[in-house]
Amino acid sequence: MDKEKFYITTPIYYPSDKLHIGHAYCTVATDAMARYKRLRGCDVMFLTGTDEHGMKIEDKAREAGVTPQQYVDNIVTGPRGVLDLWKLMNISNDRFIRTTDDYHVKAIQRIFKKMHDNGDIYKGTYKGKYCKPCESFWTESQLVDGKCPDCGRDVVDAEEEAYFFRLSKYADRVQRLLEDTDFLEPRSRVNEMVNNFIKPGLEDLCVSRTSFTWGVPVDFDPGHVVYVWVDALSNYITALGYLNDQYHDYEKYWPADVHFVGKEIVRFHSIIWPAMLMSLGEPLPKKVYGHGWLNFGGEKMSKSRGNVVDPYILAEMFGVDALRFFMLRTFPFGSDGNFTNELLIQTINTDLANDLGNLVSRTTAMAEKYFGGDLPAGGELTEADRELKVLADEVTAGYERQMEAFQFSNALAEAWRLISRANKYIDENAPWVLARDEAQKPRLLSVMKNLCEAIRVSAILIAPVMPDTAAAIFQRLGVPAEGQTWDAARYDLETEGWWKTAAGEPLFPRIDMDKALAQLEQAKAEAAKAALPDLEIEPFTEDKVDFDTFCKSDFRAVKVKDCQPVKKSDKLLRFTLDDGSGADRQILSGIAKWYKPEELVGKTLVAIVNLPPRKMMGLESNGMLISAVHTEKGEEMLHLIMVDDAIPAGAKLC
Ligand code: ME8
Ligand code: MG
Repeated sequence: MDKEKFYITTPIYYPSDKLHIGHAYCTVATDAMARYKRLRGCDVMFLTGTDEHGMKIEDKAREAGVTPQQYVDNIVTGPRGVLDLWKLMNISNDRFIRTTDDYHVKAIQRIFKKMHDNGDIYKGTYKGKYCKPCESFWTESQLVDGKCPDCGRDVVDAEEEAYFFRLSKYADRVQRLLEDTDFLEPRSRVNEMVNNFIKPGLEDLCVSRTSFTWGVPVDFDPGHVVYVWVDALSNYITALGYLNDQYHDYEKYWPADVHFVGKEIVRFHSIIWPAMLMSLGEPLPKKVYGHGWLNFGGEKMSKSRGNVVDPYILAEMFGVDALRFFMLRTFPFGSDGNFTNELLIQTINTDLANDLGNLVSRTTAMAEKYFGGDLPAGGELTEADRELKVLADEVTAGYERQMEAFQFSNALAEAWRLISRANKYIDENAPWVLARDEAQKPRLLSVMKNLCEAIRVSAILIAPVMPDTAAAIFQRLGVPAEGQTWDAARYDLETEGWWKTAAGEPLFPRIDMDKALAQLEQAKAEAAKAALPDLEIEPFTEDKVDFDTFCKSDFRAVKVKDCQPVKKSDKLLRFTLDDGSGADRQILSGIAKWYKPEELVGKTLVAIVNLPPRKMMGLESNGMLISAVHTEKGEEMLHLIMVDDAIPAGAKLC
């Protein structure tokens, strides 16, 4: 029999900036689902990719002084780019699409033409509002307080000749799809779509632009590029080979079993996308699931809000599996969640170090101590053991139910019921007491084997979310990882007769909260510093100074006779200078951060000497020393101008 197929996708990401942990959230969830389905023996297609066209990218590239292609290449394939991030997060996607891939571009042109030829795309004039950051068009009536209804930012007027897609024609069919089927989940998102977008009257959608060029050209009308959402949404079928020869598995995998998408792009996936497919005469995806946002400090984590959390820093400090677990265990997939470092560390300490880690450590350490890690067949099930088995069966069934409904958090909670029960089983059966009595040896063996079995089943259940941890556990139990599929997630001491365990380092060392938080702050500061430009110099002033005014400034070479710190000031140095006049001149200068007083004695400097006297910290300053300033990695740098010592004190500079 053919394997059941399962096609799952993430949104394709905008490479307009580096991705953050909020982006990783959806990809990790998709990865866990894909791994779960593979575990169950499905033929999985897991697609992710990047959405590389549009005005925003064109603008960003111009700012950076590179071509749009160079710009996206760097963020997608460059160091710590999108591909690196997915590797770091252990993402097992089967395919990766870039909308700048040649086959995709050609397929988009064919898709656009097909909808044009069937009468669903026509030419008109676009008048409306455009939100640049979201790349979304809005009609006046859709704006909220005159701003973009998605992000609340300013919109701009736009008017131009453009192509339109007859979205209005599909309004009824889409409404029925949303209301009468479980196409869109969670169901709470259906009302929002129907009431806010369909009921007020679904207008035709502007699907081409002429105001910029970074997009897929409309091949039958030069100057027009395809609207970026038509380009992006189609990735789900072009990546399977739809209207192109790059791939050949459209028949096999389409329709998608589920598109995972963030809640702000549910509108595109549940209204525009099905309408496009209806127009193309293609089957609709089985489901769109709109997940919530990871917030930070109460707001959606996003680059423009400046509250992003760097996944590299977290993964380096806590490990990838812990991070994956935290995201999926803590926040119900359909709702928003507030990310905090404290919560992350707490979760690792409680669920991973205490519960799971301890269970594995205690069990393998005792198996080692009492049996040298060799647990041969034999032993009888007591009432207590059977209770553990019943719970394991219950947990497996509950876990399956939750995973099938994309409720990762609940599924993990199920697995943790078994882990907690197994920890309690250790305390109840007190192997260390049994070990004191030779006659209890068979019972001790049986207890140890029940524990290994409970751990083995738990490890299968956590494998989709923590693949490396599961593999490490199988290794410690001495069971071959390949055999640990969904079918093997059944508590069964009869078949698992023999264990060869190995004790090891704790899987999740306990984290010292205060120390870790301080370390995180430091890592964040270092990363922020590293991202700053190496060198910044002051922009030149447009203001002109007239020649006569300039000539009034009296610059002189001066020699440092003495230099002292100023009491109670960490900025000022007090200079006693020979200015050639015969009398000492005193100047105060705020340069203590850069120079030690003694290293300046004897130097020849430059001062402007006809400034009015100024009092600082009760001392009089007669003039100003001239220095050069610039910024390096965000830090202000200063160099006093020192001139040739052959220049006599008092020489005029002009
Ligand atoms: O929307 N928490 O790309 P994108 C949770 N190119 N999810 C978040 C998040 C956060 N803080 N920040 C972003 C696009 N995301 C389009 C998709 S699909 C045909 C085209 C999620 O890079 C966001 O909700 O802005 C979205 O699902 C995904 O990251 C990509 O966002
Ligand atoms: Mg977005």
